[in-house]
Amino acid sequence: MNKIRSYIKGVGHNVPDRVVTNDELSKLMDTTDQWIVERTGIKERRFADEGVGPSDLAIPAVENALQDANLSKDDIDLIIFATISSDYYIPGAGCILQDKMGFGNIGAFDIKTSCAGFIYGISMADQYIKSGTFDNILLVCSEVQSTTMDLSDRGRNTAVIFGDGAGAIVLSSTTEDRGILSTHLHSDGKNVKELWLKEPSTKSSNRLSKESIERGDHFLFMNGREVFRHAVKRFPETINESLEFNGLTSEDIDLLVPHQANLRISDMIQKKMGLPDNKVFNNIQKYGNTTAASIPICLSEAKKEGRINNNDLVVCAAFGAGFLWGSTVIKW
Ligand code: UT7
Repeated sequence: MNKIRSYIKGVGHNVPDRVVTNDELSKLMDTTDQWIVERTGIKERRFADEGVGPSDLAIPAVENALQDANLSKDDIDLIIFATISSDYYIPGAGCILQDKMGFGNIGAFDIKTSCAGFIYGISMADQYIKSGTFDNILLVCSEVQSTTMDLSDRGRNTAVIFGDGAGAIVLSSTTEDRGILSTHLHSDGKNVKELWLKEPSTKSSNRLSKESIERGDHFLFMNGREVFRHAVKRFPETINESLEFNGLTSEDIDLLVPHQANLRISDMIQKKMGLPDNKVFNNIQKYGNTTAASIPICLSEAKKEGRINNNDLVVCAAFGAGFLWGSTVIKW
């Protein structure tokens, strides 16, 4: 009998309706449309309305993914929810989604693996399926980062990049020769403070002091140059290791989907990998950097646009806070 593999049976996404243009941000902070487009490629992003959390944004994405997979809620065995902006500090967004969408009492847990959330999540789901533990797993990646942004001059190098959105996939078992060929995961915790959200911290009995709020410790902080420097090294490194692992070269790639960190980063990866424009998918221009959600949003759009078809070789790679990075090779 052929061995069990996992494959992406369905994919969906959802972004908030509210479009925030660069010009709108330039009214809040000292920035310009020209600077943002030149340095990041971003033209606009979406912000969730007040009161909307990642679990809410995820619902239409999950509905789309289930429909695309031709499955119902009852077919799902496990929910993995990748987010660093969970609705609440406790509990995780996975069980909130389980309740809101009326899934049965299946397992549901969050993973906090920043922009690499999709890669880490698919790696876990793949293991559960290959081991025969589960047949259909919902991997949800959803973020509301807008409320963690310092929308003032002080936060301008971080705030112009991030946006809100959700993507979801259903990973299912198959004995066909297709699906997740490999996943590679990495971390380097030396760089925690280059991209972090410090407060509220359990290290302080105060949790969130007046002073820490004044300092802006409750906003996401990013040392952009340092993150950029590491990202442009790690992306090609992990893409190459995953290609080598599978005995492939960049010429075998039908579509590369990099985490949407910055269009300049995607362009550098494309150049290093020697890929033509039609083999790299980017949508950061419309959505900004949606952290864990960026890759599944891209996959969902790429599939709808006919840029991913059965048997295509799709490579996804991500880099983010931690630092964490990794890649996956998928025969669609
Ligand atoms: O999702 C994974 C993690 N995130 C990333 O991978 C993002 C990685 N980093 C980046 O994308 C870029 O570093 C940024 C887009 C954040 C910044 O671009 P940069 O080309 O690295 O700019 P910089 O930080 O070197 O700043 C250049 C100048 C500075 O002014 P001076 O010192 O040259 O006078 C900044 O103060 O641009 C200034 N600046 C801005 N100007 C207008 C920084 N942010 C802004 C802004 N508008 N929003």
